[in-house]
Order: sequence, then structure tokens, then C-alpha cells
Amino acid sequence: MSNILTSSIGKKILMSLAGLFLIIFLLVHLGINLSLIFTGSRETFNKAAHFMGTNVIIKVMEVVLFGGFLLHMFYGVLLQLQNWLARPKRYRIENYSQTSFFSKFMIHTAVIIGIFLVMHLFDFYLKAKFFGDVPLVIYDGKEYHDLGILVVEKFKLGGYAVFYIICLLIMSFHLLHGFQSAFQSLGLEHKTYTPLIKAIGIIYSVLVTAGFILIPVYVYFWM
Ligand code: HEM
Repeated sequence: MSNILTSSIGKKILMSLAGLFLIIFLLVHLGINLSLIFTGSRETFNKAAHFMGTNVIIKVMEVVLFGGFLLHMFYGVLLQLQNWLARPKRYRIENYSQTSFFSKFMIHTAVIIGIFLVMHLFDFYLKAKFFGDVPLVIYDGKEYHDLGILVVEKFKLGGYAVFYIICLLIMSFHLLHGFQSAFQSLGLEHKTYTPLIKAIGIIYSVLVTAGFILIPVYVYFWM
């Protein structure tokens, strides 16, 4: 057990597993968020957000989610530092044939995603959970937090919507390399499957990013 936490390959495996978990989380999160623009009202979105915030199983998953984020970030930074320290002299000409464009910027895109995430949690999640300054709405005689109106109000601000879109594009760079890299770290190298995983990674990154970007764009122009 101590080996997996301390050895370089162990850290990579843990980081990959956490990364794959986050990849699944993003799909669920996107699905719920899209209901805000595709259902014609905020009801489904608010009810889904309420379910995610109160269901016991989801609450346990939330601990796993935040643990996953922290683990992924911690090992990501650690491995990057070890990498830099192991190569004190960084040559101007690196081995470009071995590394994709996106792989060279993983730590940089990660830092930006980390900053985005902190702001994002303050804007929505922590407001709903702890600060309490979220409007309430009643559906079928039951009170719900109107998180939907919070999202709409934020994205009606052009600068805020553009900031989100830029962060989401940066996230797509991270995903473009991260998706296939996670499988590689888990040792899943195969003549046929590796190109397939790479293709799925590209499709996933493009579609998930486009889906998330659609939300601020749609809210800003049409809601
Ligand atoms: C258009 C884009 C997005 C919108 C409108 C959005 C909206 C929201 C809202 C309203 C919440 C609070 C839900 C609740 O408390 O139940 C939330 C939570 C959260 N969001 Fe986002 N989000 C977006 C993109 C992202 C992205 C790209 C990430 C990851 C990099 C992310 C990560 C999280 C996390 C970790 C939480 C807290 C856990 C949870 O409630 O599920 N979000 N988001």
C-alpha cells in the first residue's frame, strides 16, 4: 500500500484513477446543466441540483469527488515537481516527436482549472451549501434553491460568460491529453485499442467542452 502512494508509478495510477472519475463526473454535471437550457424552465435543473445536494448516496460520492480532485491535483503537482527536479537543465529543444502539444501544458492548464474551480465553488456550490443567499422557489408545494436563476444572472454578464468560456477551452486542452494519458498510465497500451482510446478522448473532450460552452452562450443570447 505504501508503495502505491510513494512510488512514481503508484502516484501515476492513483492520479489516473482520480482523473477518470472526474471525467465521469463532468458528464453527469454537464447532463444536469444542459437541462437548464433544454427543458424550457429551471424546474428540472433546480430539482436535479437539489437531489444532488441532498441524496445520501450522492453526498458520499461528493466526498469521493472532492477527495478525487485533491488527490489528482496533489499528485499532479508532486509528479511535475519531481520531473522538473530530475531535469535541472532544461534544453531548449525537447523531444517534440514524443510529446503532444497539449501534454506540454498539463501543469499550466491544471493551475488555471484549479483557480476556476475555487471561483466556481464560491459562486454556486458554497453559496447553496453554506452562505444561504440563494433565492428559493416552490415546486409542488416544496421549497428548492433556485440555483438556475443564479446561473442565468451570472451568464447574463458578458465578461463572466467570456471568462467561463476561456476556462472551459483551457479545460479542453487538459482533457485532450489527460483522457488518453490516464489509460496509458494504467498500462493499457495496445496496437488497436490505444488509437481507439485516443479517438474517444478527442470526441469526449470536444463534445463535453462544446456542451459546457453552450450554456453561457445560450443564457447570454437567448434566456
Ligand atoms: C457552464 C458551465 C458550468 C455551470 C453552469 C456549472 C454550474 C454549477 C452549479 C449550479 C453547481 C452547484 C450545484 C449544487 O450545489 O448542487 C456546480 C457545482 C460544481 N461544479 Fe459546476 N458548472 C459548470 C462547469 C463546471 C466545470 C467545468 C467543472 C470542473 C472543472 C465544475 C465542477 C463543479 C464541482 C466540483 C461542483 C460541486 C459538486 C457538485 O455540486 O456536483 N463545474 N456547478
